[in-house]
Formats: sequence, structure tokens, C-alpha cells
Amino acid sequence: MSEEFQIGEYYWRPCAEIMTIPDGRIYYIPVFEHLHADRQFDFPEEHYHIDGRFEMEPRMKQQFNCWDGYTAAVIVPESSSNYSFLSIAKTKVKCERYDTGLRVPEHPTEKQLPKVEKYRDWYKSYIGKKCEGKLCPHFGTAMLEKDGLLVCPMHNLTADLQTLEIINT
Ligand code: FES
Repeated sequence: MSEEFQIGEYYWRPCAEIMTIPDGRIYYIPVFEHLHADRQFDFPEEHYHIDGRFEMEPRMKQQFNCWDGYTAAVIVPESSSNYSFLSIAKTKVKCERYDTGLRVPEHPTEKQLPKVEKYRDWYKSYIGKKCEGKLCPHFGTAMLEKDGLLVCPMHNLTADLQTLEIINT
């Protein structure tokens, strides 16, 4: 559980300001403000991860398939046919839940499998690394406590709460 936020309260958070195509409506999607690419698991486009702890419009929950705080979708500023990315804007949004993260398919399809395997190999390369200050050894993201573990909300590196070392999940 996060100590930083309370469910039902509003916070100024970084949001991707996007304009939908073709109807030109503006929406704000809470994100982790760290633009990056994940070439190591075949995601070369720069993107932001969605912070599903915070509320977004139902249309956006639908668009990004993010109903429980977890999603495989990310915001890709340069190459989406569904929206134009306008900016990252601090926006007041309601906290809906304490956890969020990347949804990696448990039973990948044949098409998803090569990416998922690369992800798993990448994950293994982090096992045993320390999360000093409860920060992720990948990009320094603040990790979240979940079920007695520390989990990174960006790419799910998971650590033991006592040793702060990344573990095999
Ligand atoms: S930032 Fe990538 S797993 Fe933490």
C-alpha cells in the first residue's frame, strides 16, 4: 500500500495531454514522467507508462484497456493513429487505488511470445540487484509495496521487502 496517496483524494500529477483522432477531444492520462524506449524487449518507440492509480475518463480506460490499474498499453507520443500527443501537463486527478503496473500476458500468443521471452530474459538479468532507497535499479522509479513485496510500476521488477533485492517471481 502506498503511504504517499489516499484513495478518493486529489493530487497534482503528470498527465499526458492527448487529443483524440478524429473527434479532437482532449483527455488527460496519468503517467510516470519518464520518457524511454525498451529496445531490450523489442519496444523501440519512446513512450510513457500509464499510472493506473489515478482516475481517467471511461473512454480512456476503454482505449488503454486499463480498468484495474494494470495495462499493457503505453502512451507513444510520436506514433499513435488514435490520438495526437500534446504535452505532459500537471493535472489534478483522483487517486483510485494503490497499485498499478504493466500487464505482461501470462499466456502469450504466438505473436507475443518473442517479446515476452525477451522481457523474461531482461528480468532475469536484474535478479539479485538492490533497490537502494526502495528505488528501482532500472530507472530509479519509486517502487510500490504489494503483497509484502516491492514492485516497480513501470516494468514489474519485484524485490524482497527485507533484503531489497530483485527476486525471481
Ligand atoms: S523502471 Fe523499469 S522495472 Fe523499474
